[in-house]
Amino acid sequence: MPAKTINDIVALCKRRGFIFTGSEIYGGLGGAYDYGPYGVELMKNIRAAWWNAMIYSRNDIEGLDAAQITNRLMWKYSGHESSFSDPLVECKKCGARMRQDKMKDPTKCDNCGSTDLTEPRAYQLMMGLSIGAMADGAINAYLRPETATTTYVNFKNVMDARPHKLPFGIAQIGKAFRNEISPRGFVFRMREFEQAEMQYFVNPADDEKYFEMWKKIRMDWWINALGIPAEKLRFTPHEKLAHYAKAAGDIEYEFPDGFDEVEGIHNRQDFDLGSHTKAQSEFKINAHVMENKDSTIKLSYSDPQTGENFIPYVIETAMGVNRAMLAVMLDAYTDEQLPDGKSRLVLKLKPSLAPVKAAVIPLVRNVPELLTIANNIENDLRKLHIGRIELENSGNIGKNYRRHDEIGTPVCITVDHQTMEDNTVTMRHRDTMVQERVAITDVPRRVMEIING
Ligand code: GAP
Repeated sequence: MPAKTINDIVALCKRRGFIFTGSEIYGGLGGAYDYGPYGVELMKNIRAAWWNAMIYSRNDIEGLDAAQITNRLMWKYSGHESSFSDPLVECKKCGARMRQDKMKDPTKCDNCGSTDLTEPRAYQLMMGLSIGAMADGAINAYLRPETATTTYVNFKNVMDARPHKLPFGIAQIGKAFRNEISPRGFVFRMREFEQAEMQYFVNPADDEKYFEMWKKIRMDWWINALGIPAEKLRFTPHEKLAHYAKAAGDIEYEFPDGFDEVEGIHNRQDFDLGSHTKAQSEFKINAHVMENKDSTIKLSYSDPQTGENFIPYVIETAMGVNRAMLAVMLDAYTDEQLPDGKSRLVLKLKPSLAPVKAAVIPLVRNVPELLTIANNIENDLRKLHIGRIELENSGNIGKNYRRHDEIGTPVCITVDHQTMEDNTVTMRHRDTMVQERVAITDVPRRVMEIING
């Protein structure tokens, strides 16, 4: 049986150390979560799968990691400062604050049902900062609300350092911050979250072709790299396009409450590079005052064949890493009835994503001979550099299997008395619970096979 509700995942995450409430012992903070020992591993593996697909498997995409604290002007000229907002409605009776476009019924308070509501007002989503020794409390910087804009403003830097012909892309994974009115759904909508976004710069004549190409590449990635079944995913075009978009849609995953967005694919045309290029001429006036006369920067492209200079179009793929992890966990979560009438909880993760790659378990606790062999196997597995390997020395084999099933460890390797006689160990496979005898010398190769699927 799959996870019935997000609460199944919340409980597992807390119990086994994937995700904790942020600032928990001080009462928590809405929309902020802390990732524990296994959560950091799962996030790292999802990031690695994305980076492998975007950077290491291709030669047309460069990587970037821009600062999260950003100059206020960047967001003035990108249009975010004036228009990156949600419609906020307040209940005059109970004081609840809601996002109008997400209300169950926009005429009634979600909390108390009252119809006495304020008119919607635009609520700025960016988190402003006042930084520097001379800061007077006025906002002079923002925590970025997306990675994308910090990629656009580096277009020229990357092109100068690594010249490419179109089409080419810049990929970035990193934190983003939004002062969401109503964070919800555990890590689905947070105030601090992580994005994996790629901006693909194309000749305007080719935009539709590459929009379709990236829709397919990204959907295939969700299926093959994350192991999500195709029938749990769908692509939904946006009904209402943002003013800068020519085409846009979302990859959606079927959460327990229904399909919802996990990644956006957007044809943003030349809006962003164009806006920042235009802004530079205005900004040059300021720069001149600051005696930096060199600041006119054109975020454009010169075609080496035709000599034509133009602003490329952007096809964007924008994934939420935390949402990806939530979808992966929901999908892997299996409450399984066993033939003996008992049940077990098992996280059937793709082995490449599993937080712990293998557990080595001496059958009896503190028997030096067994422990020495287990330590040697652990060390041999560590040399593979495949991720986290755990040694369990509690002597309770049933408990160990249960824990590793719940955190999704693909294989447990048990060292017992027979090991001392014939140098074999038991390999227990997570999904089938099949146990087989394997020569110690064969263990690393077998584990590699399992992890590589
Ligand atoms: N650069 C385009 C952009 O930021 P978006 O649809 O606002 O587009 C992209 O965000 C992805 O980031 C979403 O599909 C979602 O997975 C994730 N995301 C957005 N807001 C989020 C939030 N408050 N908490 C968690 N993930 C979020």
